[in-house]
Amino acid sequence: MTGAPLVAPSLLSADFARLGEQIATVMDAGARWIHFDVMDGHFVPPLTLGPLVLQSIAPAVHEAGGFLDVHLMIERPERQIEAFAEAGADGVTVHAEATPNVHYALAAVRDAGCRAGLAVNPATPEGVVIGLADAVDHALVMTINPGWGGQPLLPFTLEKVRRLRAALPKLVIEVDGGVDARTAPGCVAAGATRLVAGSAIFGGEDPAAAYAEIAAAAIGGA
Ligand code: DX5
Ligand code: ZN
Repeated sequence: MTGAPLVAPSLLSADFARLGEQIATVMDAGARWIHFDVMDGHFVPPLTLGPLVLQSIAPAVHEAGGFLDVHLMIERPERQIEAFAEAGADGVTVHAEATPNVHYALAAVRDAGCRAGLAVNPATPEGVVIGLADAVDHALVMTINPGWGGQPLLPFTLEKVRRLRAALPKLVIEVDGGVDARTAPGCVAAGATRLVAGSAIFGGEDPAAAYAEIAAAAIGGA
């Protein structure tokens, strides 16, 4: 099947003044997928991280056996794939809404040697993932509207996860937004196998304990 659910800490909510230390903390606690949110000020209003930051964290993440899960919330992502692959991405996720050339972009991710992810916003139906299943290594179902951490999970998006799981029993399905120890079991019960969590992990005093709590809750939902 799709394996035990993995919790992927999202660096968006980390303290960037001590990014390396924050990554080490969650990886020591057991995290292996590190979620890296890229925003361009167009697809979503904020600007965040780019390949230079990815490049600076990649050696330590890879040395610890981690997977750099790059989530591109940018328009025309196909133009940036090479740069992120060269900077150390292991997976690159593009949004179905961000380019007229979604299949081309997914193929470009694989050509660059990375796992190809396809993300859908809350209003985008899951059919696009099902139609392109052969080109997709993992789906990312946005459980909030993209752009900001700390928003509550939109429950209707879990229905989409459920439909996607029914259509594609073996697909790796990631959920992103509003995941915490309280919402994680429902995400896993709906069929998610990767749970991105930002503010719930890095927003408090003890990211390692928060990671462990969400990971335990996720296993409880399996
Ligand atoms: C938002 C990003 C998320 C973000 C989630 O668009 O894609 O990865 O970090 O934040 P939380 O976990 O706080 O909802
Ligand atoms: Zn994300």
